[in-house]
Amino acid sequence: MDIKNILVVGSGAMGSQIGLVAALGGCTTTVQDISAESLAAAREQLSGRVDSSVAKGRLPRGDADAALARLSFTTSLEEGAANADLVIEAATEKLDIKRSIFAALDQATPAHAILATNSSTLGSSKVADATGRPGKVCNMHFFNPALVMKCVEVVRHPGTSQDTVDTVMALARSLGKAPVLINKEVPGFVANRLMGAIRDEALRLYADGVAGFEDIDTAAKTALGHPMGPFELMDLVGLDVSYLIRQATHAETGDPADLPHPALAALYEEGRYGRKTGKGWYSYDH
Ligand code: CAA
Repeated sequence: MDIKNILVVGSGAMGSQIGLVAALGGCTTTVQDISAESLAAAREQLSGRVDSSVAKGRLPRGDADAALARLSFTTSLEEGAANADLVIEAATEKLDIKRSIFAALDQATPAHAILATNSSTLGSSKVADATGRPGKVCNMHFFNPALVMKCVEVVRHPGTSQDTVDTVMALARSLGKAPVLINKEVPGFVANRLMGAIRDEALRLYADGVAGFEDIDTAAKTALGHPMGPFELMDLVGLDVSYLIRQATHAETGDPADLPHPALAALYEEGRYGRKTGKGWYSYDH
């Protein structure tokens, strides 16, 4: 299937950049959010990103303007869904919210539309049965920052059709990404499992007083060649996201080892979510 029209649900850090990736890739794209404020912030941030790419000589002005012209923003799910060939849901990592979005999308999108979730934790089988088209449901999981990171995990659930998998893999390639196919729904899929193992070890070392978090970050960068240390990465991804991912994983496995680390939970409870709130492990000037 040829994907021309895309709806992205959610205009947070992930949804907004996924929208721009799709528009830059030539798709007519709508970003929908229930919050007009969040949409306005996303529009401003994305045009800032585009302007900076133009200024750096990475993107011709004409291509930038054409991409922005293909990108629209709305608070109405129905409006964005009416012509969608594919939806990427990037709302909050809460199952009841995702299930109601998928049920609404099933009603509002054309019958041929693929319904994908950007969830990093919840396998799409958890939302597929809220729709009448489970074969057209899968995960299409981008990484933060979505404009930069090449990986997209395409995760099939047992009922996802081969045609859906092929279409989403091909779309990811056409957007300049490097998709990887995940054949089994395991919490965290592949990349986050790897990242989680490093983050858990980093939190343990910090909580045991072995080293400060800045020094642990320095070691990850200078000894292992990681572009960011695990604490910097938590601030980028959002401590709220990391916290909710662990809660969702624990809800699925029941394993106390999957609960958020107390040091992470403490920052979450203080509302220190990382870059987005100006404070997490580190402090940021907005
Ligand atoms: N949004 C969009 N673009 C950004 C960005 C952001 N937040 N931050 C940086 N960039 C762009 C810059 O504009 C720059 O673009 P150009 O090459 O066109 O100039 C490019 O990225 C490099 O930026 P910088 O030179 O400022 O900084 P850098 O070289 O340190 O790169 C980084 C920044 C790309 C974020 C890099 O540090 C990195 O790769 N970090 C690791 C990120 C990572 O691991 N992400 C996965 C997170 S896990 C996740 O997302 C999964 C989940 O489910 C929770």
